[in-house]
Amino acid sequence: MERVLEPDLMEDPAQALAYARADFAEVNQGFVDRFRAMFPELSTGSVLDLGCGPADIPIRLVRALLGLQITAVDGSAAMLAHARKAVTEAGLTDRIRLLCARVPGLALPPRSFDAIVSNSLLHHLEDPHPFWQEVQRLGGPGARVFVMDLFRPDSPEGAREIVETAAANEDPLLKRDFFSSLLASWTVAEVRSQLALTLPHLDCRVVSERHWLVSGRLP
Ligand SMILES: C[S@@+](CC[C@H](N)C(=O)[O-])C[C@H]1O[C@@H](n2cnc3c(N)ncnc32)[C@H](O)[C@@H]1O
Repeated sequence: MERVLEPDLMEDPAQALAYARADFAEVNQGFVDRFRAMFPELSTGSVLDLGCGPADIPIRLVRALLGLQITAVDGSAAMLAHARKAVTEAGLTDRIRLLCARVPGLALPPRSFDAIVSNSLLHHLEDPHPFWQEVQRLGGPGARVFVMDLFRPDSPEGAREIVETAAANEDPLLKRDFFSSLLASWTVAEVRSQLALTLPHLDCRVVSERHWLVSGRLP
């Protein structure tokens, strides 16, 4: 199936609300657990989260690793309002800095992060290469890279089946976006070709029935 693009930012307030209200606990905690298992030595330092959405992953990360500081970036003001509320309610404003900005081209110092994470952002981008170049630019020497996203099924029917299996009872808006995301996502082969151009030492592999993970360390 050919890739079908979706808009990059989730700017519609109703769309942002449906996403912020959805229960991603299993996937998001899995993200954090896998990150910790892969980089057990990282207990302090600075982490950059690209496309943080309502900040559930940064909140889980700083709760699990008490020495981390996170800069969490999203280009959608509507989504970031949910992130701000969640971070404030969690009492974590001193450890999670929220930034409303579009990737790439972030006004952040080069080579300044010990780890760069991202979940479900790459499929929003028409051109993936500036994303990987941004990872390369902002990660410090030896920085950990941990990027997860959906992979594209073979057909729209396959995508529909995934939505009905994983999100049967969710808000119709969320189901619509989930379906569009699956159609817009990259296959593992496509991600590997992207990495070959910019970050050839990083690995991409399938980690669930619908996700791939890119992980490794920058030189
Ligand atoms: C599917 S959500 C994922 C949110 C979060 N990472 C999570 O796992 O719950 C994708 C987020 O990326 C943001 N986004 C999309 N394109 C972006 C870009 N070019 N720059 C910054 N944020 C972007 C959207 O606004 C949205 O909040």
